[in-house]
Amino acid sequence: MVVIKSKKFILRPYKKGDEKSLQKNINDKDIYKYTLRIPYPYTIKVAKKWITYCINESKKKTPKEIAFAIDINGDVVGAVGLHNIEKNHKAEIGYWMGKKHWNRGIMTKAVKLVTNFGFNKLKLRRIYANVFSLNRASAKVLEKNGYKLEGKMKDYHVKDRKLIDALLYSKLK
Ligand SMILES: CC(C)(COP(=O)(O)OP(=O)(O)OC[C@H]1O[C@@H](n2cnc3c(N)ncnc32)[C@H](O)[C@@H]1OP(=O)(O)O)[C@@H](O)C(=O)NCCC(=O)NCCS
Repeated sequence: MVVIKSKKFILRPYKKGDEKSLQKNINDKDIYKYTLRIPYPYTIKVAKKWITYCINESKKKTPKEIAFAIDINGDVVGAVGLHNIEKNHKAEIGYWMGKKHWNRGIMTKAVKLVTNFGFNKLKLRRIYANVFSLNRASAKVLEKNGYKLEGKMKDYHVKDRKLIDALLYSKLK
């Protein structure tokens, strides 16, 4: 159970009881719009399923993903996760933040902490992210953390039956 503390928030694993605040903060069309795995509407049932999945995954010896809830005063206001983890090699980073906390530098700091965790604790060599090409805020978060643009992948994602270009960013240890 890894907990990382910063001045403004705590990064911690999801736990039972997070369903309500998770649902309240993530249930937003503007979060859905730029992500692939977050449904809209995001129901309490979906929140329960996700939290149970994360708790079970965290018990595994070699988890495929590690999710950190961003906790402010006990509420889950956002999250950062490492996905598709390939031991001692690479993982994908993904994140979302509840709208009322946007543009306060919180995700920039959270991505910094989780990137360091990936390199130092998981011994990863490469962390990468796929960002929808119109998602300037997300690209900015990565750039501020020293992630480099590797290229644009044309028609890479399908979202709501539309093809979307993605920017591939990575940071190497
Ligand atoms: C991307 C996201 C996580 C950013 O969270 P955040 O806590 O607001 O991020 P930060 O405050 O640390 O940094 C955001 C930066 O983007 C900038 N920004 C925001 N909107 C922007 C826009 N439309 N164009 C250009 N820059 C923009 C902010 O000014 C800030 O940069 P600055 O610190 O240099 O001023 C949040 O917007 C979000 O959850 N979006 C929806 C889900 C999503 O996109 N997830 C990532 C999928 S790859």
